[in-house]
Amino acid sequence: MALIEWSSELDVGHKFIDDDHKKLVKMVNDFHDAMQQGRGNDVIGKVLNNLVIYTREHFSREEAEMQRIKYSKYLAHKQEHDKLMAQVGELQGSFSSGKKMLTIQVSSFLKDWLRTHIMQTDKLLAVAIANI
Ligand SMILES: [Fe+2]
Repeated sequence: MALIEWSSELDVGHKFIDDDHKKLVKMVNDFHDAMQQGRGNDVIGKVLNNLVIYTREHFSREEAEMQRIKYSKYLAHKQEHDKLMAQVGELQGSFSSGKKMLTIQVSSFLKDWLRTHIMQTDKLLAVAIANI
């Protein structure tokens, strides 16, 4: 079973944001599967890199949209993005230095972060975009 199942509660009602989130969910699931299946470090490292690259691109798209609409909660929202990128950067660092990562801990961290951020922070953004 996938770590994160897409459901309507994750829909924020904005096309590009929802499309991006679906792809992110798939990438977090792929990462989880690769770790759980005990895939080699080269495979896991690659999946993690792809996830990091895509997350950075997605955050940039959201941030550009926030600036376009002169979003009042821009800084707080961006801080959440920056914090996650720093945490994921640490994960990448531990991974490439050969530290063993705990599959369950890493997966549930990513899952909880994504769900909470989408359902709270990104939903507020989608409402603001819809109301301009
Ligand atoms: Fe966001």
